[in-house]
Amino acid sequence: MTSAEIRQSFLDFFAKQGHTLVPSSSLLPDSPGLLFTNAGMNQFVPIFLGDRAPDVSKWAGVKPAKDTRAADTQKCIRAGGKHNDLEDVGFDTYHHTMFEMLGNWSFGDYFKKESIRWGWELITKVWGIPAKRLFATVYSPDKSKNDPSEFDQEAYDIWAEIFRAAGLDPAVHIVNGNKKDNFWMMGDTGPCGPCSEIHFNLLPSDDEAAGRKLVNASSPRCIEIWNHVFIQFNANADGTFSPLAAKHVDTGMGFERVAGIYATTNGFKDFAKDPSNYAADVFAPLFAKVAALSGKTYTATVPTKREGLTEQENIDVAFRVLADHARCVSCAIADGILPGNEGRNYVIRRILRRGILYGKKLGLQAGFFEQLVAPVVESLGAVFPELVQQQSIVQRVIRSEEESFGRTLDRGLQIFGKAASAGAISGASAFELYDTYGFPLDMTQLLATERGLTVDAAGFEAEMEKQRERGRAAQKKEILVAATEGDAAVDLKPTTFLGYAQTEAHAQLIEIIKADKDTFLVFDRTPFYAEMGGQTGDTGTALINGTLVQIVDCVKDKAGRHLHKAAVSDQLSALSSGAAATLSVDLGRRRAINRHHSAAHLIHWALRKVLGTHVRQAGTSKTADRMRFDFSHFEAVTHAQLLEVEQLVNGKVIDNAKVDTYETEFDKKPEGTLAFFGDKYGKFVRVVDIGGYSRELCGGTHVATTGEIGLIKIVAEMAIAAGTRRIEAVAGQPAYELVATREAALAAVSAHLGGGASDVVKKLEALLAQQKETEKQLKAFQQKALAGLADELAAKAVARDGLKFVSGVVAVSDQEVLRSLGSQVLAKLGEGVVQLGAALGDKASLVAFCSPAAIKAGHQAGKIIQNLSAQIGGKGGGKPDFAMGGGKDIAKLGAVLGG
Ligand code: ALA
Repeated sequence: MTSAEIRQSFLDFFAKQGHTLVPSSSLLPDSPGLLFTNAGMNQFVPIFLGDRAPDVSKWAGVKPAKDTRAADTQKCIRAGGKHNDLEDVGFDTYHHTMFEMLGNWSFGDYFKKESIRWGWELITKVWGIPAKRLFATVYSPDKSKNDPSEFDQEAYDIWAEIFRAAGLDPAVHIVNGNKKDNFWMMGDTGPCGPCSEIHFNLLPSDDEAAGRKLVNASSPRCIEIWNHVFIQFNANADGTFSPLAAKHVDTGMGFERVAGIYATTNGFKDFAKDPSNYAADVFAPLFAKVAALSGKTYTATVPTKREGLTEQENIDVAFRVLADHARCVSCAIADGILPGNEGRNYVIRRILRRGILYGKKLGLQAGFFEQLVAPVVESLGAVFPELVQQQSIVQRVIRSEEESFGRTLDRGLQIFGKAASAGAISGASAFELYDTYGFPLDMTQLLATERGLTVDAAGFEAEMEKQRERGRAAQKKEILVAATEGDAAVDLKPTTFLGYAQTEAHAQLIEIIKADKDTFLVFDRTPFYAEMGGQTGDTGTALINGTLVQIVDCVKDKAGRHLHKAAVSDQLSALSSGAAATLSVDLGRRRAINRHHSAAHLIHWALRKVLGTHVRQAGTSKTADRMRFDFSHFEAVTHAQLLEVEQLVNGKVIDNAKVDTYETEFDKKPEGTLAFFGDKYGKFVRVVDIGGYSRELCGGTHVATTGEIGLIKIVAEMAIAAGTRRIEAVAGQPAYELVATREAALAAVSAHLGGGASDVVKKLEALLAQQKETEKQLKAFQQKALAGLADELAAKAVARDGLKFVSGVVAVSDQEVLRSLGSQVLAKLGEGVVQLGAALGDKASLVAFCSPAAIKAGHQAGKIIQNLSAQIGGKGGGKPDFAMGGGKDIAKLGAVLGG
């Protein structure tokens, strides 16, 4: 079987058992707590939790078999968070950053018996894996470690029956494991349960005792190939487990492992060779490409340690790393996870940089990584069509990353070398490498390990913290938050926010906080929006016991209290907590902010339409005057693309769509709602839905219908970091003012040109053409005049020793004309010497020319100019036949040149 046939045979097997075959979900997970999609079950979390009906066929858009059974091959990345295999990649043969997980699922349908029996049937009967080489693990909690639930007797009994029927001893073939090995969790929270894994003895001999000893012992000669999870619990954030309403099955098979074993064992028959995932044909195009680029050969050696590798071991590690990393980075970018500076985007950047480093070790030319995309598409494009669709974007993103890292890599390696010669890498050096040369910490650690050195990771972290501290200190508002925190006397109840529905409210003043010179007022409830999600805080007034206080800003502290910043005034001292207040938000300003906030959502929507779904919000700011929107994108947005975005958003403004806002549970938000990783969402979230096409989780305030925005104009587009762009735009009044200002400028131009604004371009074109013609004519006149002047000068030549001499001061426009004049005079003289000077601005310029006979007679243009320049307070020189110079004493020109 080829790898493709193995994959297909798994899917066919489960299709036959009534499973609906669904496509792989994106590597960008929906669950806010996950860095990447890390298991096949991720996309089914809402079903497991009972938040969604098991309607897989409907949402996958495929022909339904049973809606309670699904199977697929799922792209997974395990390079951070709860599941992280990055450090092992390349050094062993069976861990990857990105891999395919073949899986089958039951949503409250079949349970342990069917799952285990089908599993056994597929691998032993359909594929012919020798039963004697298989071991099953079963959950047995370690109560001393507080492991949840109890011994999985049910799974044990099913396995015991299976092994007995195969003539094998269950006591030998079943291995118990505690929570660490046999209780599967996708993250710290979420659906989970006891699991039963199938391990495969790959030793040359099928001796059962020897095989059993290697189960869960990190040996490449006995590895887990298939995990059957019996999902029964939801892990809560407080560490407890709640039982789910229904029981589910979630299995995951390591596709590359099975395909690799198949390849190295000649169809599960010959176990002499070391098994390796990389023997699977899905890696073949990648290995062929790396071999072609490097001229080196892969020999499948595996190092036993991390330092002092042989040359061939280094080569083989690099081949594996490149094959793995190229797949991971390509698939991630195709799913819209671009290399960046934070979170999952930084993980992808790190993996790419690590790949570039390994390429360098193989002697590959900078820019090579992009060439690995085609072989990835060749081997995976048929299964994951998004790779084919996004191929050119993936290549462009990698190219631009390679360019920017390529600029600092060599210098960084030098710095590393210097730091390494000290015997250990200090935290400060590691930080400098990170901050200035773009070396992720793990890359520096990798380089250090190769030399048997250590990196002071704690020192690095301390430097990082110092940098963060500097960033925080720059933000005064953060200081304020710190100042109000930890004050035991303060009532830390969050302020009730009324501002979505009203901009005026009665409230009670409950606290007056003085921080520095500022005074902040806290009320029990408020219509004032506190700065959040990039939306600026509201301003307005508070009427407290007859005292009118101007509110100039509003921010939130960590407890969720709205801190209303009062304008400095003597009246503040009259305020006392407990007083009743009437709060009024500056409505005009708030509406202007609403317009910019809704405009930002529209621009986000339009950018994803025009540039692609890799566009994700990276930061944003909305005020009454303008909005800024930062987003992931790998190159400048073209003028035409910006025009298209502007056109799209203004089309939506004209449509006057309704803007709906509502609260829902995070897991029940509508399909396609944009949420932002890193943001901590509670159980309930607020959805802002514009016209059904733009849906984002957002706590901000918005217009009621898009028509209120009036007009959106993009003002600027620029880079703010590698892979991150910024758009600045204005909406409503400022957009009108921008257009009005531009129109006034146009009117002024057309008034000068004569005629209306509509034919300003035509008039300008005519004017420019006319100017070009005039310049041409002027040049012809100048040349004629110059020739006349040359004649005049030549006529005044003095003859001596068979040579002719011309010396004089002339009036010309620039140095170039002076040079041309001198050369024309000499041409008219035949053999001789010409020296000319001219006042150009506040300086005097000189040129000299000597003909061949003059040079033979001992005259030298360079010397002449040197001499003349010195006499007018300057410097100059040149070759014997031609030289230029000058000086500041214009007044002496006449005397020096005798004319
Ligand atoms: N979700 C299970 C795993 O990833 C199958 O191992």
